[in-house]
Amino acid sequence: MQKVRKAIFPVAGLGTRFLPATKAIPKEMLPIVDRPLIQYAVDEAREAGIEQMIFVTGRGKGAIEDHFDIAFELEKTMGERGRDLSVLTSTRLAPGNCAYVRQQEPLGLGHAIWCARDIVGDEPFAIFLPDEFMVGAPGCMKQMMDVYDRIGGNIISVLEVPHEQVSSYGVIAPGASDGTVTQVRALVEKPKIADAPSNLIVSGRYILQPDVMRILERQEKGAGGEIQLTDAMAQMIGNQPFNAVTFDGRRFDCGSHLGYVEANVAIALDRPHLGDALTKSLRQMLTGR
Ligand code: G1P
Repeated sequence: MQKVRKAIFPVAGLGTRFLPATKAIPKEMLPIVDRPLIQYAVDEAREAGIEQMIFVTGRGKGAIEDHFDIAFELEKTMGERGRDLSVLTSTRLAPGNCAYVRQQEPLGLGHAIWCARDIVGDEPFAIFLPDEFMVGAPGCMKQMMDVYDRIGGNIISVLEVPHEQVSSYGVIAPGASDGTVTQVRALVEKPKIADAPSNLIVSGRYILQPDVMRILERQEKGAGGEIQLTDAMAQMIGNQPFNAVTFDGRRFDCGSHLGYVEANVAIALDRPHLGDALTKSLRQMLTGR
């Protein structure tokens, strides 16, 4: 079984839901407490043993490249003042551990992934949708990787949502399940509520075999007139093992205002220097006491 060494981070999206905050900075750079969203996804990838991060970017996304680079002026100035530099150095990605490719037109998630085909080459790879903020110990991708190391094939993470929300997501038709690993019998992108095969949604983490690139190559359009990753994956079912891992942890949809604010509160409550004070002030805000 080939090791998963590379991960794709599609980060070309415009982030219109967070305007005007995202007018001049990429939505992936919005902070959860003190770290940008994209940093959490990269850390989750590292924890799972991934070595090379491939960012599919677009115009106006330069801040992401700067974030993972050496911050020369900051490091020099802070170094001269004897300050701890680990907060800066730990977020670097060395050349060879990162690559950037541009998606020139917004043709869909499947198209974004396909833009990275030459950098991925002929080996299995992971995908992270950074808007889906997954908090777990171990992290979501590590949980998936442990399953991959056992059974190989294609693995996606899924979780249950209330049935009325399924139309916003990719949805699986589940087969046999042992509680954690569920066989995927079919996949459908953004189904009508009445047509959804379950309420188990694809939650933004994937381990896929490179064959998916050859299907994406055909550039077939699906839901919303976009080239959908879900449709390409659906075509692999039957030819290759395809399983889902139910994520054991907390998930925040940071593509929505509510999810983003909830993520900030949840992470702040977990931080030793913030938790107690925030609990106090939240209680006061909610109860007036
Ligand atoms: C994408 C995927 C969808 C998945 C979702 C998770 O949709 O196409 O299958 O369930 O991410 O957030 P998007 O949110 O880009 O419309």
